[in-house]
Amino acid sequence: MASFETQIVETDLLILGGGMAACGAAVEAAYWAKQHGLKVTLVDKAAVDRSGAVAMGLSAINQYVGLKDGVNTVKDYVDYVRNDLMGITREDLVANIARHVDSTVHLYEKWGLPIWKDEKGNYVHEGRWQLMINGESYKVVVAEAAKNALLQDGVGQIFERVFIVGPLMDGDRCAGAVGFSVRENKFFVFKSKATLVAMGGAVHVFKPRSSGEGMGRAWYPPWNSGSSAFFTIRAGAEMTCQEVRFIPVRFKDAYGPVGAWFLLFKSRATNSQGGDYMVERRPELEKWGPYGRVKPVPANLRNYLGMLDVMEGKGPIYMRTEEAIQKIADTCKDDPKAYKKKMKDLESEAWEDFLDMTISQAILWASTNLQPEDRSSEIAAAEPYFIGSHSGASGAWVSGPEDLQTDETKSDYFWGYTNMSTVKGLFCAGDASGASSHKFSSGSHAEGRIAAKSAIKFIVENNSMPELDAAKVESLKAEILKPLDTFEQHKNATTDPEINPNYIKPRMFMFRLQKIMDEYAGGITAQFTTNGSLLNKALELLGLLREDSEKLAAANLHELMRCWENTHRLWQAEAHVRTVLFREETRWPGYYFRSDKPGLDEEKWHVFANCRFDPQKNSWEMRTRPIKHVFGQRQEPAKAAA
Ligand code: FAD
Ligand code: ADX
Repeated sequence: MASFETQIVETDLLILGGGMAACGAAVEAAYWAKQHGLKVTLVDKAAVDRSGAVAMGLSAINQYVGLKDGVNTVKDYVDYVRNDLMGITREDLVANIARHVDSTVHLYEKWGLPIWKDEKGNYVHEGRWQLMINGESYKVVVAEAAKNALLQDGVGQIFERVFIVGPLMDGDRCAGAVGFSVRENKFFVFKSKATLVAMGGAVHVFKPRSSGEGMGRAWYPPWNSGSSAFFTIRAGAEMTCQEVRFIPVRFKDAYGPVGAWFLLFKSRATNSQGGDYMVERRPELEKWGPYGRVKPVPANLRNYLGMLDVMEGKGPIYMRTEEAIQKIADTCKDDPKAYKKKMKDLESEAWEDFLDMTISQAILWASTNLQPEDRSSEIAAAEPYFIGSHSGASGAWVSGPEDLQTDETKSDYFWGYTNMSTVKGLFCAGDASGASSHKFSSGSHAEGRIAAKSAIKFIVENNSMPELDAAKVESLKAEILKPLDTFEQHKNATTDPEINPNYIKPRMFMFRLQKIMDEYAGGITAQFTTNGSLLNKALELLGLLREDSEKLAAANLHELMRCWENTHRLWQAEAHVRTVLFREETRWPGYYFRSDKPGLDEEKWHVFANCRFDPQKNSWEMRTRPIKHVFGQRQEPAKAAA
């Protein structure tokens, strides 16, 4: 076997990931670390300039509360998020992000991000909470600020192209992380006093719609593979909302987002017979308790109404781009010159939306001769993703801020340090922290800042370097590099390196995982439907897959990363299946439907469904946690924010 040098890095704060939450964390941590003479280290599997979900850029900032304008309040945002998540949300966490997010957006502008302005100099809104941006270089702008903060005055260091595999523990305290370089034979041991997990969510746990040569194309970025979930689960942290996957409706095949079309262009979506499912199926909403009456209609219910059309054979569903563009242009129809200019502006806005964020959608339009002002585009529900920062909610169960707790909430939602998981010294932000949806790019950055400030406070008050057991580190190194040995040992047993009785390559392993999840846990081919028997079968098959993960083989460093990415996905999958099984109701039709428990059960299940893997006992525990309100009595959803 090739020899791997071990590099030990000692730091005070360790930030894992280089995405929106991690970049926010870097900026804030650098400020506080400097004051306390502490060191901060950031580790990303890729290059921070173009890593994570914002790599391609974005066309909007989806969370801006606009507190200074006095139009919206923090409570309005909390009401919006709770309604959208069918009542299941941590109000303290959402409120904490909502009260700080505007300052992050103002920083973006200061750093040079072009935010659209109207003729009066006000931000141009896409919807109530969303701002339009010229965001092709969004990630580069945010990364530059993070790097400047960390690298100036020697407060921090950045490791790029280092893949983090899992946690290091000192008893019940997180002591850092282990990983390896994806470019050279180097094993990394990061020792830290506090660790902040911000490695995004997970894609390709479920079989994607794209197949064959198109398989890497998904809505969620293929390089976020469940590392946050794996890390926190294996550290023994309690996890929440693991059942709350996100299924986005997207432009079909290239996964272009729909927000600008629905909100900015005010487009309709109609079926092949011209019917508008949001109108024709409105009575269906009555079945979903108070959540069917809120505005906007929750994302999963919007999905569900469209899915009912598809299941009845009324597909395809079309985004009526041509109708929406025409309607806006018609506002100038009496002035031919203004009309011509309006049409040109609308056309470029339509293309720019995708060129800023999902370039492949623009390429698909071009290659299929599609002009949005002439012809509708097909949309479809994508495969499920795990993304706690968007309209899903999966992530670690973290402490809320002390000042937002009430006498009633404190015992359940607060244990010392904001955004610390149930494991000492282990903090989470962005997709890594759960039950605080709708933070998106800006809220994830703000939450990264919140978590980093809190982690520095933890370090100041617990200023000792955890102890590491050298033998344990050596055994972790052997375990992590084992797929390279397995390949070397057995590669000559067959002529095709992909097929071998002694090992499984990561690609094949991923296909097996995706097939299990797709068919048994409610993926696209199962019409997002599952039941107790199917879920139990999924658990049995996932157990066998976990056994076979010992036989993963890697021909090179890149495949070694693929091996661990898929082990990470496997653990995210298991947490999901267990929690869907545990919650005996259907709360989010349009994300998944349990055919054996087809309705809402507010009495029993108006609670969080949490799980925890006990690393000592090698077993899972399930439990519920109560929903409590930080703004007084629960408001009837129908009267809440429109
Ligand atoms: P990310 O920003 O994805 O960062 C994750 C980081 O972890 C990356 O740096 C990655 O390289 C790193 N990483 C992963 N695994 C490892 C590992 N094992 N070791 C080391 N590093 C690792 N939000 C908006 O506000 N407006 C929009 O218009 C918008 N559009 C979107 C469009 C698309 C296509 C997608 C996918 C998302 C969109 N979002 C939008 C949501 C937004 O991108 C996310 O909410 C946000 O990026 C989440 O931040 P994060 O830091 O948790 O994850
Ligand atoms: S993106 O992150 O990939 O850009 P998307 O396009 O779905 O996501 O949504 C962008 C923003 O618009 C999000 O805040 C989302 O909640 C909101 N949104 C999208 N479609 C609708 C809709 N039909 N009604 C209300 N809000 C919507």
